Amino acid sequence: MVLLSVSCCLALAAKVLARDTFDPLAYVDPLIGASNGGNVFPGASLPYGMAKAVADTNSGSRQGGFTMDGSNVTGFSVMHDSGTGGQPSLGNFALFAYTNCPGGDINRCIFPKRARAAFGRFSNSSVSAKPGTFAITLDSGIRVEMTTTHHTSLFSFAFPSVGPDDEPAQPLILQDLTDLADSRQDNATVTVDSSTGRITGSARFFPSFGTGSFVLHFCTDFAGGADIVDSGIFVNSRASTEVHNLTISRSINGYPLPGGAFVRFNSAAEPILVRTATSFISAERACEHAETEIPDFDFTAVSEAATDAWRAKMSPIKVSTNKVNGSMLINFYSGIYRTMVNPQNYTGENPLWSSSEPYFDSFYCIWDQFRSQLPLLTITDPVAVTDMVRSLIDTYRHLGWLPDCRMSLNKGYTQGGSNADVVLADAYVKGLKGGINWDDGYAAVVKDAEVEPYDWCCEGRGGLDSWKALGYIPVQDFDYKGFGTMTRSISRTLEYAYNDFCIAQMASKLGKTIDKEKYIESSGNWQNLFKKDQESVWWNGSDTGFVGFFQPRYLNETWGFQDPLNCSNLDAYSVCSLQNTGRETFESSIWEYGFFVPHDQATLITLYGGPSAFTARLDYLHDRSITYIGNEPSFLTVFQYHYAGRPALSALRSHAYIPSSFSPTPAGLPGNDDSGAMGSFVAFAMMGLFPNPGQDVYLITPPYFEHVNIRHPLTGKTARVVNVHFDPSYRDVYIQSATLDGEVYTRNWIDHSFFTEGKELVLTLGRNESAWGTRVEDLPPSLGQYEGFERGNGSFKRAAAARLWRRESGKAGFAMLGDKFGT
Ligand SMILES: *[C@@H]1O[C@H](CO)[C@@H](O)[C@H](O)[C@H]1NC(C)=O
Ligand SMILES: *[C@@H]1O[C@H](CO)[C@@H](O)[C@H](O)[C@H]1NC(C)=O
Ligand SMILES: *[C@@H]1O[C@H](CO)[C@@H](O)[C@H](O)[C@H]1NC(C)=O
Ligand SMILES: *[C@@H]1O[C@H](CO)[C@@H](O)[C@H](O)[C@H]1NC(C)=O
Ligand SMILES: *[C@@H]1O[C@H](CO)[C@@H](O)[C@H](O)[C@H]1NC(C)=O
Ligand SMILES: *[C@@H]1O[C@H](CO)[C@@H](O)[C@H](O)[C@H]1NC(C)=O
Ligand SMILES: *[C@@H]1O[C@H](CO)[C@@H](O)[C@H](O)[C@H]1NC(C)=O
Ligand SMILES: *[C@@H]1O[C@H](CO)[C@@H](O)[C@H](O)[C@H]1NC(C)=O
Ligand SMILES: *[C@@H]1O[C@H](CO)[C@@H](O)[C@H](O)[C@H]1NC(C)=O
Ligand SMILES: *[C@@H]1O[C@H](CO)[C@@H](O)[C@H](O)[C@H]1NC(C)=O
Ligand SMILES: *[C@@H]1O[C@H](CO)[C@@H](O)[C@H](O)[C@H]1NC(C)=O
Repeated sequence: MVLLSVSCCLALAAKVLARDTFDPLAYVDPLIGASNGGNVFPGASLPYGMAKAVADTNSGSRQGGFTMDGSNVTGFSVMHDSGTGGQPSLGNFALFAYTNCPGGDINRCIFPKRARAAFGRFSNSSVSAKPGTFAITLDSGIRVEMTTTHHTSLFSFAFPSVGPDDEPAQPLILQDLTDLADSRQDNATVTVDSSTGRITGSARFFPSFGTGSFVLHFCTDFAGGADIVDSGIFVNSRASTEVHNLTISRSINGYPLPGGAFVRFNSAAEPILVRTATSFISAERACEHAETEIPDFDFTAVSEAATDAWRAKMSPIKVSTNKVNGSMLINFYSGIYRTMVNPQNYTGENPLWSSSEPYFDSFYCIWDQFRSQLPLLTITDPVAVTDMVRSLIDTYRHLGWLPDCRMSLNKGYTQGGSNADVVLADAYVKGLKGGINWDDGYAAVVKDAEVEPYDWCCEGRGGLDSWKALGYIPVQDFDYKGFGTMTRSISRTLEYAYNDFCIAQMASKLGKTIDKEKYIESSGNWQNLFKKDQESVWWNGSDTGFVGFFQPRYLNETWGFQDPLNCSNLDAYSVCSLQNTGRETFESSIWEYGFFVPHDQATLITLYGGPSAFTARLDYLHDRSITYIGNEPSFLTVFQYHYAGRPALSALRSHAYIPSSFSPTPAGLPGNDDSGAMGSFVAFAMMGLFPNPGQDVYLITPPYFEHVNIRHPLTGKTARVVNVHFDPSYRDVYIQSATLDGEVYTRNWIDHSFFTEGKELVLTLGRNESAWGTRVEDLPPSLGQYEGFERGNGSFKRAAAARLWRRESGKAGFAMLGDKFGT
């Protein structure tokens, strides 16, 4: 990529701003996914910010803190993750407020989190969520607004002039030692300074989907027109203004004993400002963050800076608003927004090792993020992805392994393969540099492939002896070297095979020929679990009509059996996650994993009986709802028609899911957003360029807008996709012809230079499927050869295709992989 000088780009940006009134933030609704299990964090934060302030509710679906499902607010906390499943994450050190304590008696205020929910009812219409700010009014009349800097949250609490008992306001603000999951451990401490009201403290908590624990510290200060009346601490439901320090036990009853501190004020005439910073290092560090980031409690200045930070991050992508339904714009920009909430930038906040490298956390989890979220950021924010990759490699340096999932300074559980390999390969093939030590990066991915960890719960791969001896992960493997949940043998085999392909690509580009050949070889291991004669029959006995599926295989090389429909969207009975009783595919069926060969679709198509049979099988997967668009393995299947020479069907399928399964409403997401993974799916699909992650390949479909402009943040060049004959009713979604920088373009995919070099792709649309992008030489790269395309389906002449393919294949993306490709 070409690096322009900073001054040039700043000048350019200023010029663009001057003549451009388009504001992407006008189309961002952070509340999408705030109900119906989307689990998004809809609160105030900076891009990748550590401070994430929002109102927390007592919903069973409070993983992201706030929900709009009729639950009540229990507090206002300052750390969150977004879109995750499992246990709620973070949500530490919640604040809560009362206009007064009845009769002025401190002991008549309600302190415990669960009980104070009765004072946290609100109406949806009182909620305002915008990038960088969040506000809500409780039925008690208390209005709470919040905004953040990188480590510090600033709240404004506005109180009614009288309390529920009609007595004058004497506002009380408390801060407790809880987290959303109630995971606090022994010996949490809190201190409140009786003269300044400053509250500091620390507590140990558990990460929400991993091992170990972490200690978080905080520092809270108050400002505004009111004077402090008194302050103190509370334990359970009792409080004292005489006591200012507390060290509290977890207690023996599961739910940590409520405890915290409070400050009371003499007036509600002006809002009370509350500034809370956190740190993983110390309470002193938290206070330093607070004092340097928000020295003067200027709510307007902080919120404007937060808004500006989001606008700067969103501005590289600009779409035409012409003719398009506004809800499409909101869907699109909100999806992009959610990709930058997590991972979180904890640089300078990592107590585990000292290093000058960046440290990112909340890779939650890479199994979700590798498919489209991190690839989207590679386009919109390559500097951030560079920092993330450096952080992943630094984590390998200090902990011995690349993480697969990581949150709150701890190792999270691995779901399938060592998919950080895909993340590194994706960044490498797309040319990310920026101080990434690719030698170390390569050593890290090779370690995943070669060294089995003693405990592969949370890093690396299991079953490597069998993998090397047999070329697959056996069901009921014998493994005495490393230990982990012995399930998912099929999905692990498929993911390990793809991970190896990603390593091969890095090896190839690094000139490591022997390694390249070795990992190309093992990237074919997926074929060892393909059982040619396996049928798939519905549970009522009716045959799906498809033959040939992946199946579990024992150590002795005989076949086991798993119903190919088990763990599908329609299977209400199987256990399909990380439980010991889980199946051989993780959170998805053999039907769906049957398409997870991202590097060798050509060979898969041949095994499935050619392009028509492959297309019919993909249709069956979607039409019969075997797949579930609310979980990440489905993402690529929407676009895999491209490989069968039917890019039109990818476009059609994309419109079948958007907006019907992704609508811009709180309940609009089909599943957990998973740190923005769902958001990135929507953004890429609507942009019309879907990545095959780990490869320098984007599959072309018409954008949902008349045109899309994407300015590359490093080169400053603008890539552009234009729809000629754009149809806002999305009936004309078939590409008839295309040009790239003015030249006829028939390939149904492009590479990353489109973005870095700012090319222009013009798509002419029509109502019917055309021959565009259907010939073998138009298809995306694949390790094996495309076969069986000569006859086509009768509509398109493909006779000459095979010949042309052989002649031109040298230009295709995997040509560097050598003999195996295209000959
Ligand atoms: C608004 O609140 C009600 C009850 O308080 C809840 O049931 C409903 O789902 C909410 N509406 C939205 C759009 O989330
Ligand atoms: C919410 O608060 C209201 C008012 O106190 C109460 O009646 C209701 O039970 C609370 N709901 C929940 C889910 O806590
Ligand atoms: C809590 O503090 C007590 C007293 O200092 C100590 O005995 C105990 O080990 C501590 N517990 C933990 C989990 O640190
Ligand atoms: C309370 O905590 C503060 C800060 O840690 C400390 O300076 C002070 O000595 C403590 N007071 C008591 C009574 O323990
Ligand atoms: C825009 O899209 C929304 C949501 O899909 C739909 O309800 C509305 O009718 C559409 N408006 C127009 C003018 O088509
Ligand atoms: C991460 O935080 C560090 C320290 O504040 C900062 O230097 C760096 O620019 C941040 N990275 C990104 C991508 O925001
Ligand atoms: C059996 O179930 C499948 C899938 O739901 C359905 O398509 C088929 O019609 C059913 N067959 C019979 C005979 O009920
Ligand atoms: C292979 O192993 C499986 C599982 O232990 C066993 O059921 C099967 O009988 C074995 N087959 C042969 C041929 O030994
Ligand atoms: C899942 O597999 C089990 C065992 O083969 C079978 O009993 C069950 O019917 C399957 N469920 C579905 C939905 O196919
Ligand atoms: C599209 O296909 C339909 C059905 O084959 C045909 O009737 C129609 O004329 C075609 N439209 C165009 C614009 O080619
Ligand atoms: C071939 O595919 C086109 C595009 O979907 C379709 O219109 C046509 O009916 C198909 N022809 C045959 C013979 O299947």
